[in-house]
Amino acid sequence: MKNYIGIAPEQTEILSEKLNLLLSNYQVFYMNTRGFHWNITGEKFFELHLKFEEIYNNTILKIDEIAERILTLGAVPIHSFSEYLVKSEIPEIKNMSKGKEAVRNLLEGFEVLIRIQREILQIAADANDEATNALMSDYIREQEKLVWMFVAYLK
Ligand SMILES: [Fe+2]
Repeated sequence: MKNYIGIAPEQTEILSEKLNLLLSNYQVFYMNTRGFHWNITGEKFFELHLKFEEIYNNTILKIDEIAERILTLGAVPIHSFSEYLVKSEIPEIKNMSKGKEAVRNLLEGFEVLIRIQREILQIAADANDEATNALMSDYIREQEKLVWMFVAYLK
């Protein structure tokens, strides 16, 4: 079907599929981070409890942006947890109460998200999809900075 945004349907399809993979990883990452916010105990409780909240609130904004980008490209964003769990490379983390371990888990999550976003950046560049490109580069820039801060915290 004709679209009005000037990106070939073969390319919107590849982009949407990869964005759905990213969305799935974000949904699991989101729930993990909420779990960390709830279950954290001990040293630095107040700082980490707040930092995790900041991260999951930011994640929910990205989830909505990614889903709406998929719609803009003419596809349907995945909207069931059963599918997210099948697609997500980031595993579910349960009962995490240790601050440093939770941070290490976030770092592993960011590693996956950044890698997929960099792959999408490449596909978007090939498709001249400037809007997806801009989203991905914003996310990567923000998250690489967070990675630096979390690594500094763990030292
Ligand atoms: Fe809360």
